[in-house]
Amino acid sequence: MKKIQWGILGAGKIARKFAADLAWVSNAELAAVGARSKSDAEAFAKEFNIPISHGSYEELVKDPRVDVIYVATPHGFHFEHVLLCLGHKKAVLCEKAFAINSKQASEMIAFASLQNTFLMEAFWTKFLPHYKQVKKMIADGKVGAIKSIIAEFGFKPTPPIAQRIYDPLLGGGSLLDIGLYPVFLALDILGKPDEIEATMTPAYTGVDDQIAVQFKYNNGTLAQLFSSFTSNMATGADINGDAGRIRLTHRFHGPTTQVEYYAGAVDTKETIDIETVKGNGYEYEAQHVTDCLLADLTESPIMKFSDTLLLMETLDRIRGKAGIVYPHDKK
Ligand SMILES: NC(=O)c1ccc[n+]([C@@H]2O[C@H](COP(=O)([O-])OP(=O)(O)OC[C@H]3O[C@@H](n4cnc5c(N)ncnc54)[C@H](OP(=O)(O)O)[C@@H]3O)[C@@H](O)[C@H]2O)c1
Repeated sequence: MKKIQWGILGAGKIARKFAADLAWVSNAELAAVGARSKSDAEAFAKEFNIPISHGSYEELVKDPRVDVIYVATPHGFHFEHVLLCLGHKKAVLCEKAFAINSKQASEMIAFASLQNTFLMEAFWTKFLPHYKQVKKMIADGKVGAIKSIIAEFGFKPTPPIAQRIYDPLLGGGSLLDIGLYPVFLALDILGKPDEIEATMTPAYTGVDDQIAVQFKYNNGTLAQLFSSFTSNMATGADINGDAGRIRLTHRFHGPTTQVEYYAGAVDTKETIDIETVKGNGYEYEAQHVTDCLLADLTESPIMKFSDTLLLMETLDRIRGKAGIVYPHDKK
């Protein structure tokens, strides 16, 4: 069977975890890496035994040996870099946040359709075994009617702090970096909220240092969502229904070996064991994209364009309420 040839655009922190995880993916090979400097690309290629290194993103996207590119630059550049890949008919897996706003996201998706080329947001949580178990438990009626979701994600960056954390040009701020995980959870389980409230504390650059968000649904369901760069938080999530509660402990969005379930009172804990992931957890989304490409798909049936657009539109609504503006919004 043909092996899908992967390229990595941007040789940074998350690219390293993803490159390691590609070793666990069937019918896939890591063929090339592209970085802004040749020496960085070469060092990355050496670290992960990649045959080809390119000293510019342009060279990478022009490489005929590459089928699909993982865009792993800060989100302020995703629009530019995804269009660059699609322009050369390379399939794309783009890191979260997919874009800075829904206008950018719509244009990226429209261009993928025009080019008849695969594009997907790298929302790894959706592909992880524990999250699939949570969705199954909800579908099986284990929590009954969901009345609320409470989720938070917080960490205090330690020096050297990456420029992308606070720089507005790079899409800095807690909401687009980590707050989108609680937001995703509420959207994926409850759907589009009827009302949104949000308030934030600005960092020294004006982007949000921390943000509190509330979703309200016409049926009375509420979601309370929080993200922060000011404190190391529990980074857990509770899905509360009239028949039970699912508790995801630290860090709810990433791989875990256990999901907690409470059918009755607080002391009725049942622990559901989850398969241990082999890599860092990114192998599941990478396998899915590989499978999609082998099946000649241009859109994922799991992380759909409508999922990405709902997330980006909701982040726009939250930013509107909290007063978070990026230079990209004015273009
Ligand atoms: N899914 C997850 O669990 C997860 C976890 C962490 C991050 N992420 C996402 O992945 C993306 C990258 O995060 P990261 O932590 O890997 O970032 P990073 O290491 O700070 O930067 C990644 C790469 O982006 C390029 N870059 C960085 N700063 C730049 C600048 N000022 N101007 C132009 N290019 C710059 C560099 O590419 P070159 O190597 O070419 O110079 C760098 O190696 C973000 O969108 C983030 O939200 C996802």
